[in-house]
Amino acid sequence: MGGAAERWAELQEGRAVPPEILAQAPVSPWVHDPQDFTAPDVPSDTPSRDAGLALLGDAGSVLDVGCGGGDAAFALVGPVTEVTGADQQQDMLDLFAVGARAREIPFRTVLGRWPDVAPDAGSADVVTCHHVLHNVVDLPPFVAALTAAARRGVVVEMMTEHPMAWLDPLWVRFHDLHRPPSATTEDAAAVLRELGVEPEVTRWERIRRPPHDPAWVARRLCLPDARAEEVEAALAEVPPRTRTAATLVWRP
Ligand SMILES: C[S@@+](CC[C@H](N)C(=O)[O-])C[C@H]1O[C@@H](n2cnc3c(N)ncnc32)[C@H](O)[C@@H]1O
Repeated sequence: MGGAAERWAELQEGRAVPPEILAQAPVSPWVHDPQDFTAPDVPSDTPSRDAGLALLGDAGSVLDVGCGGGDAAFALVGPVTEVTGADQQQDMLDLFAVGARAREIPFRTVLGRWPDVAPDAGSADVVTCHHVLHNVVDLPPFVAALTAAARRGVVVEMMTEHPMAWLDPLWVRFHDLHRPPSATTEDAAAVLRELGVEPEVTRWERIRRPPHDPAWVARRLCLPDARAEEVEAALAEVPPRTRTAATLVWRP
């Protein structure tokens, strides 16, 4: 493993929740609620959408890795001829299927962890992967499989720092847990460069974001809903989460 990949893995491992805290969690802090990832009827106009449309041209297929409700793939409606959604959560794939049917796009779903399921997912003209990299520890095989699956190009979207990094002061406050700084887009780009890939990186301000009400934050912190009021008070003292996203584009 190269130095950049090692740094990425170390920073990501540093964000793990210790087992004794996890054992007290009423619900898993990691599992996403599909309702928060429904793709909008009218796609947001973003640099990721622009990049996907440019790669697709008049027509082409899309593979959406960590698809959730298909926000990345369905933003490309028009030139998309068929979509494959890959995700480790079946409830996300169910939502993806509903979205594909509503848009009358031929689709396929693949359940499992990327890159393990890459052979089942096959290849596509364009591979999208939005808001997944900050979940990954071992980044080289993950991004190498994205590249291998793409005939024309890969579009990755990510927040410039871990989307939960703004809660780090609350981990100290509620659990006395001190975390390392977040891995950043620059760290991800360095891993790509180590693999011989030079991504085009565009930073921008993201308007649409999943909710973060106090009960939601309490669950992320492995606390019961009953402590939501305490969390709400603590949130008032925390700097707001970053809105800066980045689009990374590369060709195989
Ligand atoms: C934050 S959501 C983003 C969903 C969607 N791409 C979007 O931008 O709205 C991350 C999604 O990636 C999935 N996921 C995370 N790691 C994964 C992996 N290694 N393989 C497959 N799916 C993964 C999660 O289940 C979840 O649906």
